[in-house]
Amino acid sequence: MEFIVKTGELEKQSSACVAVTVGENGDMGRSAKALDSLGKGIISRLLKAGDIKGKSGQSLMLHSLAGSKAERVLLLGTNSTSKALSQTDFISCARAAAAAVKQAGCKDVLLDISEQTVSDADEYWKARQLYQAFGESNYRFDQLKSDKSNKKLPLRKVTLLAATRGVANHYKRAAEHASGITSGIHTARDLGNLPGNICTPSYLATQAKSLARKHKSLSCKVLDEKQMKTLGMNSLLSVSAGSAQGARLIAMEYKGGKKGEQPIVLLGKGITFDSGGISLKPGAGMDEMKFDMCGAASVMGAMTTLCELGLPLNVVGMIASAENMPGPSATKPGDIITSMAGKTIEVLNTDAEGRLVLCDALTYAERYKPKAVVDIATLTGACIVALGHHISGMISNNDTLAEQLTGAGEKSADQVWQLPMNDDYQKQLKSNFADIANIGGPGAGTITAGCFLARFAEKFDWAHLDIAGTAWHSGANKGATGRPVALLSQYLLDRVDNQ
Ligand code: BES
Ligand code: MN
Ligand code: ZN
Repeated sequence: MEFIVKTGELEKQSSACVAVTVGENGDMGRSAKALDSLGKGIISRLLKAGDIKGKSGQSLMLHSLAGSKAERVLLLGTNSTSKALSQTDFISCARAAAAAVKQAGCKDVLLDISEQTVSDADEYWKARQLYQAFGESNYRFDQLKSDKSNKKLPLRKVTLLAATRGVANHYKRAAEHASGITSGIHTARDLGNLPGNICTPSYLATQAKSLARKHKSLSCKVLDEKQMKTLGMNSLLSVSAGSAQGARLIAMEYKGGKKGEQPIVLLGKGITFDSGGISLKPGAGMDEMKFDMCGAASVMGAMTTLCELGLPLNVVGMIASAENMPGPSATKPGDIITSMAGKTIEVLNTDAEGRLVLCDALTYAERYKPKAVVDIATLTGACIVALGHHISGMISNNDTLAEQLTGAGEKSADQVWQLPMNDDYQKQLKSNFADIANIGGPGAGTITAGCFLARFAEKFDWAHLDIAGTAWHSGANKGATGRPVALLSQYLLDRVDNQ
């Protein structure tokens, strides 16, 4: 899908659909007014009759409007065309517009949002959110359905009308970024949606290698179980012990920055299916544990964005991947293993496996002398209890990094919320037999999981994102969300501006 910017007057453009803003009490934006006078007051009459009240999120699709060159005119309610909308309301409007255009099956759309202001947001933000809303709605996962007759979504082109050349430049930057981010989000959703029998650790490795083949600045290393054994990654290997699928440690090295510049490491949890292992999960909804590699998928997504935008940064995208199964050689509750860092771990619950693969990967990350390490994991059900499905959890050992990620989350509408971490919580991980236990008792499950990881992240600035509640939707809309690719991409974009 193409994201385009144009200057000029909307009513003069021909298109499958033009979208204009209307507010409450007959309020119309400039383009709506122009179309209204061409159509001899039809939009005014519709507003007056209450067919659309102009509230944010409402929309009304009109066909063959008199005097309009476009096939359709979409009226978009924004409360007021001259007063600022909140950021969340603006995103709802953008999504409503995308849904209406999708419903009508338009192949292109031209929108005028130029007069609409949004609280604490600039022209770039507005345009990027709008483009992304269309990019996001133009996603379909049907590669495993046999009937692909309606496979192609028709929307090809989203054009934004800019009032001035200056604004057009902001929109162009937004279009470029939105395009890269949309690709990243689609990559993450595709990988997340694939079932566990297809998306295995070796499948993720193949995907990472094929991404590296497509981009000159990216190279990819994959460690198999034998190589990991040599490095002493017994904690990671303890998770794959009960599975027929071999574990993989994937490292995608992106070199877009200065030579020798310390990289940012993104590390994703890639459990391609989490049965719980010997501490077997209950059956209901267990299929959703194919999504337990969404952290890894978000790293693949962010690396895709990074490559497409060609950002001048050094970044390593790491994925710690295994399948957690209760096979005959599976790790058992009570087993004690020695991690790559040398710390011994008592595995009291084999379902707390994410931290076991991540801890060895964190130790491996030390070799990059990273500027910062951000791990992304569907780590704890407790995070859903704490924050629901709206905001991801965060634990960090560095306030600056935590602030950068919080800020990036707000800007990209892909929020995170920092949870506390201190020695009181660390004490919950005490083991009678080993250096550390892999679970911390019933209270504060997200924090104690973070505490566990923190023990392996002492040598660098580190933040952990728990995306258990945000990585996928359950129910009728079951499917991967692509979160937090937008947040990670924003964090990387911000690092470019701040150099
Ligand atoms: N992958 C799960 C966490 C999870 C559960 C994410 C449900 C999303 C929805 C993780 O490996 C896990 O099983 N965690 C346990 C930890 C517990 C044993 C300390 C959990 O949350 O129950
Ligand atoms: Mn688990
Ligand atoms: Zn898991």
